Amino acid sequence: MKKTSLGILIIILTIFNVSCKENPNDNSIENKTNSIEKKVADLLSKMTLEEKIGQMNQYNGFWDVTGPQPLDGDAAKKYEHLRKGYVGSMLNVRGVKEVRAVQKIAVEETRLGIPLIIGFDVIHGYKTLSPIPLAEAASWDLEAIKKSAQVAAKESAAAGINWTFAPMVDISRDARWGRVMEGAGEDPYLGSEIAMARVYGFQGDDLSSPETIAACAKHWAGYGFSESGRDYNTVDVGTSTLNNIIFPPFKAAAKAGVRTFMNSFNELNGIPATGNVYLQRDILKDAWQFDGFVVSDWGSINEMIAHGYAKDKKEAAELSVIAGSDMDMESYAYVDELANLVREGKVKESLIDDAVKRILRVKFELGLFDDPYKYCDEIREKEVTGSKEIQEAVLDMAKKSIVLLKNDNEILPLKTNGLNIALIGALAADKTSPLGSWRIAAEDSTAVSVLEGMQKYPDNKLTYSKGADVTIGKTEFAIELNINTEDKSGFPEAIETARKADVVVMVLGEHGFQSGEARSRTDLGLPGVQQELLEAIYNVNKNIVLVLNNGRPLTIPWADKHIPAIVEAWQLGTQSGNAIAQVLYGDYNPSGKLPMSFPRSIGQVPIYYNHKNTGRPVNPGSNQVFWSHYSDESNDPLYPFGHGLSYTTFTYTNLVVDKVSNDIFNVSVDIKNTGKVIGKEVAQLYIQDVFSSITRPVKELKGFQMVELKPNQQQTIKFSLSKDELGFFNNGGEFVLEPGEFRVYVGGSSKTVLESNLIIEKQSIK
Ligand code: BGC
Repeated sequence: MKKTSLGILIIILTIFNVSCKENPNDNSIENKTNSIEKKVADLLSKMTLEEKIGQMNQYNGFWDVTGPQPLDGDAAKKYEHLRKGYVGSMLNVRGVKEVRAVQKIAVEETRLGIPLIIGFDVIHGYKTLSPIPLAEAASWDLEAIKKSAQVAAKESAAAGINWTFAPMVDISRDARWGRVMEGAGEDPYLGSEIAMARVYGFQGDDLSSPETIAACAKHWAGYGFSESGRDYNTVDVGTSTLNNIIFPPFKAAAKAGVRTFMNSFNELNGIPATGNVYLQRDILKDAWQFDGFVVSDWGSINEMIAHGYAKDKKEAAELSVIAGSDMDMESYAYVDELANLVREGKVKESLIDDAVKRILRVKFELGLFDDPYKYCDEIREKEVTGSKEIQEAVLDMAKKSIVLLKNDNEILPLKTNGLNIALIGALAADKTSPLGSWRIAAEDSTAVSVLEGMQKYPDNKLTYSKGADVTIGKTEFAIELNINTEDKSGFPEAIETARKADVVVMVLGEHGFQSGEARSRTDLGLPGVQQELLEAIYNVNKNIVLVLNNGRPLTIPWADKHIPAIVEAWQLGTQSGNAIAQVLYGDYNPSGKLPMSFPRSIGQVPIYYNHKNTGRPVNPGSNQVFWSHYSDESNDPLYPFGHGLSYTTFTYTNLVVDKVSNDIFNVSVDIKNTGKVIGKEVAQLYIQDVFSSITRPVKELKGFQMVELKPNQQQTIKFSLSKDELGFFNNGGEFVLEPGEFRVYVGGSSKTVLESNLIIEKQSIK
């Protein structure tokens, strides 16, 4: 080819290439990405070092943002930084008026006018609350969970927020840890499915829509494995647990396109997560190619000093940025130290550039540069907050989250007329506790109480008596809440009310503020004098329906033995009382299944269904003591993972495992509604890799499906098992499928299952 024609070809190709990249009429993802990358690079090239570092700095909402400028202290420093463009994000500023006020400073007063990304803990809603995430997980209903995140995004986005610090995808096996309420429970498969549903719900198909917000997978990583369930405590776990249990939901969130990650307070095997190169660079950004940004947890950069890892704030900043923490939440470490670290040659400017690019990328994707006030529409805020659509979605989610743990003699559902019902327990009338502890924007007393919910069934006689308070604390972030009341002065009235009743409904458990961050407990029984109250009422009336309100599994062996019906109703959010009443009266047939095992006693914790077998798993016979067990308690949980009853019954028959190819199998089973009413059942598929190069759990969830069946109706359910489900991560971090014998289980819980087996042939392994 002649030089001239080559030149023309190059020009044509270049024009074609440029037009491909920037064609304004081309709405393809590729075109959008290319144009965002170009805009990010252009903007970065205009920024001073200090402005770049500013993007990596996040401050908590700090002064009455719509009032006068603060003149001294911390607030004055933050205000000054905001005006100079040294703040990239703020959290906890909320409501259109407030958000507009801070955004205006960032956009109109700084040199480059880069908008802020506004973060908030939209954990299970903003003002209108869904059930706590652990409760939502009990629904096993991915569509409902997605919808719940979607309406939470809509309501918070209408209040100026464009980034949530959710979902928390930490797996935990220890109910002492107060934050189990914020996750999806103990299982990595269920946890991964729910992580994806939540990310899709928050972010939607289009992040630039004013109704969607960026999500954040947290806390990367290992936070749920804090030793002895004490919050913020040391985490020391092996490779297999990391790869097979802790990482999967994070990987699933990344796969679903989550735009941010938050690191965690804990150290992992000696290195704080915030300064952990392996987690943030090797795994997240290199192996998984995550191109969003990582925010530190609150002050976690500075906390590396207390961990004994960084000697001062400057070293903490250096270690964190090198490790891949892109944004500093409230440590003031980046804003105060990074510029000097770069000038001294201790931190390469390319690392700063990488972090800033990631942050700007998400801001462009949100459309903040097109319209920084797109989340600031007062009319929309008014229309959307607490709207009918949102109330209906949280009510639906609340009903689906309820788990019927026990129902002897079909005491439930209750008849809707002619009954004399005693309603007992402080939580029965509480309108704040159902909101849980992550409810910064929700007003106190905005939940529907059980009392109010049951009053909507007027043809029964309903008498309420408190009996006893749960705690003596106030309903706020107060430490006194952990002090349980000893006051029994309300017992006599409650006992008299119960004596005369046909049925007693007792609402007992934890106050909403007794679980959550920094709310670890060493006793998982009913707090305060509630157990005594339950027994005192039982002495006069055995016809008790116990409704539990709690943010974690509780130990209730006495109740399990004596009380005929137990309903797990968690903290169900704004519509709590309506959901509980509809379930108690049978207007909604419960279908929830436990996402965490309920221990019999605290001594069994951590307890989880997907444990290993040990070398001595089976009782060798009477008088034998040398096997893996407790001498004073059974090994089994009180209620296993996946357990949950219905007002109807289901039977499973005809489990068939078919080989499709050497490493793909179809599994089918027949499920029949053998009871009297229509109901939903979550069929669960478990496997066991019987012999392998590293030992595998006795059961692992690998699929689930929800079916709704009319009385006598039968349906065949089909699952497929392939390498993804049958393989595991070995200790070298490789995903492998090993030949040999597998067991396949299908049933209505991790305990009640049919069993079959399958063989993976050696020659099938590539
Ligand atoms: C929590 C995070 C939360 C952050 C911001 C921290 O204390 O660990 O989960 O997102 O605060 O509120």
